[in-house]
Amino acid sequence: MVDEKSLEELKKKALSEIKEAEDEKGLEAARVKFLGRKGELTRILKSIAQLPPELKPVIGRLANQIKKELEAALKEAQQELKKKKESRLPGVDLTLPGRPYPLGKLHPITQVMTELCEIFLRMGFSIATGPEVELDYYNFEALNIPPDHPARDMQATFYLTDKVLLRTHTSPIQIRTMEREKPPLRIIAPGKVYRCDSDVTHTPMFHQIEGLMVDRDVSFADLKGVLSVFAREIFGEETRVRFRPSYFPFTEPSVEMDISCVICGGEGCRVCGQTGWLEILGAGMVHPNVFRAVGYDPEQWVGFAFGLGVERITMLKFGIDDIRLFYENHLRFLEQF
Ligand code: DAH
Repeated sequence: MVDEKSLEELKKKALSEIKEAEDEKGLEAARVKFLGRKGELTRILKSIAQLPPELKPVIGRLANQIKKELEAALKEAQQELKKKKESRLPGVDLTLPGRPYPLGKLHPITQVMTELCEIFLRMGFSIATGPEVELDYYNFEALNIPPDHPARDMQATFYLTDKVLLRTHTSPIQIRTMEREKPPLRIIAPGKVYRCDSDVTHTPMFHQIEGLMVDRDVSFADLKGVLSVFAREIFGEETRVRFRPSYFPFTEPSVEMDISCVICGGEGCRVCGQTGWLEILGAGMVHPNVFRAVGYDPEQWVGFAFGLGVERITMLKFGIDDIRLFYENHLRFLEQF
């Protein structure tokens, strides 16, 4: 028989189970246990009809009141659980790897320019610069290339006026520096140059580094020494160099320097055209006419000069076969360096 005491005990038990439920599953179990279709309180409520008439109202009222209290307690406990869940840090998984921060980097040409300059700086050269919009005089005439000289055709020039052009090489910086400074001197001149030319190995704008050393007793051996060091530092200790006679109006004698092929090591391959050698720069002993143009006495001063293309060196260093890739600015290309 149900009496008030057992109802009160049932209520106590139910409230404590509701309170102790740790999650929604536990709460639901408590609800089913007491208020479900076959729950303990439900069963009592259903049996009220069979109670003696004098007990019905008392027990009935109490049982219904307890039912309401339990429902309220369930609801409260549910809200409590929900609050607890929300107060935990939402969506933070401390075991996840960090988000990569997009980092820019230097263009491969800039990287190689810097590396090249550092090599020559370590050998005592300092950096000189000059204008990209240049006078015909500095780009050609003072470099022993008079008007109508066939050597002008070696470089397809962008002219702005008769006398003003986009420099076709960094050699005019030699002239500007010598006009400004007294010998001895040792400079490199990195910069952009322009030629009306475009294919897989030529772009209308590219980069060169010019070198110039002037002193009383500079010889071709010094030129070979400086350039051999440079080649080994850039392409590796095992790199061999060779010098072939060539022609430039501003040097006499003139040479071109080759390095052993960086791809096949000298065996002969497609990149070096089966020769085992790659041409990488022009150089020579400064022509007396160049010294005369800047007021240096060619009887007192000797010097060597060289000029190299930074794109070409970068392509060989990284195995890039199309110069235009440098200037299309595709991130998938640039991110590799
Ligand atoms: N100015 C030449 C060019 O652009 C490269 C060069 C060759 C520079 C020999 C020099 C040199 O200083 O001595 O093709």
